[in-house]
Amino acid sequence: MQSGDVTALLSGSQPVQEECRAQRWRTDSGSMVTRSLLISMSFVEYRDLIQDGDTAIVFLGHDSMFPVTIQHGGQTQTKYGVIRHSTDLIGKRFGSKVICSKGGWVYVLYPTPELWTINLPHRTQILYSTDISMITMMLELKPGSVVCESGTGSGSLSHAIIRTVAPTGHLYTVEFHQQRAEKAMEEFCQHKVDHLVTVKNQDVCKNGFGVSRIADAVFLDIPSPWEAIGHAKDALKIEGGRICSFSPCIEQVQRTCLALEEHGFTEINTLEILLRVYDVRTVSLQIPDFGKAVEEKGMSGNSDASKQGSSSQQGNALFKSGVSPRETVGHTGYLTFATKGLF
Ligand SMILES: C[S@@+](CC[C@H](N)C(=O)[O-])C[C@H]1O[C@@H](n2cnc3c(N)ncnc32)[C@H](O)[C@@H]1O
Repeated sequence: MQSGDVTALLSGSQPVQEECRAQRWRTDSGSMVTRSLLISMSFVEYRDLIQDGDTAIVFLGHDSMFPVTIQHGGQTQTKYGVIRHSTDLIGKRFGSKVICSKGGWVYVLYPTPELWTINLPHRTQILYSTDISMITMMLELKPGSVVCESGTGSGSLSHAIIRTVAPTGHLYTVEFHQQRAEKAMEEFCQHKVDHLVTVKNQDVCKNGFGVSRIADAVFLDIPSPWEAIGHAKDALKIEGGRICSFSPCIEQVQRTCLALEEHGFTEINTLEILLRVYDVRTVSLQIPDFGKAVEEKGMSGNSDASKQGSSSQQGNALFKSGVSPRETVGHTGYLTFATKGLF
C-alpha cells in the first residue's frame, strides 16, 4: 500500500467497502485524497429503523455502553445475555428497549458524535464534549463551514465538526500516522459521513493541509502547533477566519502564541475549561440542633413539650444530594484561539 493512499484499505475491508463507493484522485503533492457519495443512515441524518451495517450504541447505563456494528446473523454479548442482531435489532426502532437472553434489557441508541466520543476505540488521546463544545462555538462553526484539522487522531473531534458543518460544509483532516488516517477514513465511511470529509496522510508541519485560502477555521491538536501556524494561515480564507490550538502544556501554548503573533493573528487568547459534575446520591445527614423553638423559651426546661422539642431535633435523616464523584476529570489542555483578519 502506498503511503497516503487511504482508499486502498477500504477496498479490502468489510463491510465498509460494500457501502463506501470511494472515488480518489491525486493531489499536486502526490498524496491521495478520498471521497465518496453515500445515501441511507448516517451520523448527520437521523433514520428511524435499525438496518444491517448500521453502527448502534448498546446502552446498559449512563456509565456503561459500547458501539456495535449491526450484522445479519451477528450476536452481541452483554452481562444481561445475548442480543441477536437479526431478530432483536434489525427492523426495530433506534431507542428501543431490547430484552437480552437472560431477561435483562438494554437500550439500542442512534449514534451521535456525543455518544461516539465516549464510546469510540481509542487510538490516541481524544477531545471530549466539554472542550469540543467550546471549540465549536469559538471557531464559529455552522452548516457550510470549511474546516481544516490536524491531527485526526481517533476522530472524536472530527465527528463533531462534520455534524456541525453538514450538509454543505467540509472537513479537511490531516494525520501523519498512516494506520490512524486509514482507520479514521474507514470509520467515516462506516458512519456515512465520508462525503463531508477529506483525510490526508501527511505531516501538517511540513506539508500543510493540502488546501489554500478556503478554510473558515483551523484546529490543531498536535505536539508542535507553532510549526503549523504558517500553513494554517495559508489554509484560511483571504478575508480571514478563526484558529484554535489545543495543548496540554503551558510551554506549548507560549510558543504557539508567539507564532500566532508573528504571523499577524489577532485576538489571541487562551483558556482552560474545568468541568465539575455531580452524582445524585442518597446521603444520611445528622439533623442539626438549632436550639429550642421561640415559643418554648418561656416554658420550664422540665416540661414535656420542651423535652419533645429537643428530641425531635436529633437523629439522622436521609436526603437526596448532589455529590462530587470520587475521581473528577482535572486539567485536559489549554485552548488558544485567534483571528486571522484582513492583513
Ligand atoms: C491527540 S491526537 C488528536 C486527537 C483528536 N483531536 C481526537 O479528538 O480524536 C494527535 C494526533 O496528531 C497526529 N500528529 C502529530 N503530529 C502531527 C503532524 N505534524 N502532522 C499530522 N499529524 C500529526 C498524531 O499522530 C495523533 O494521531
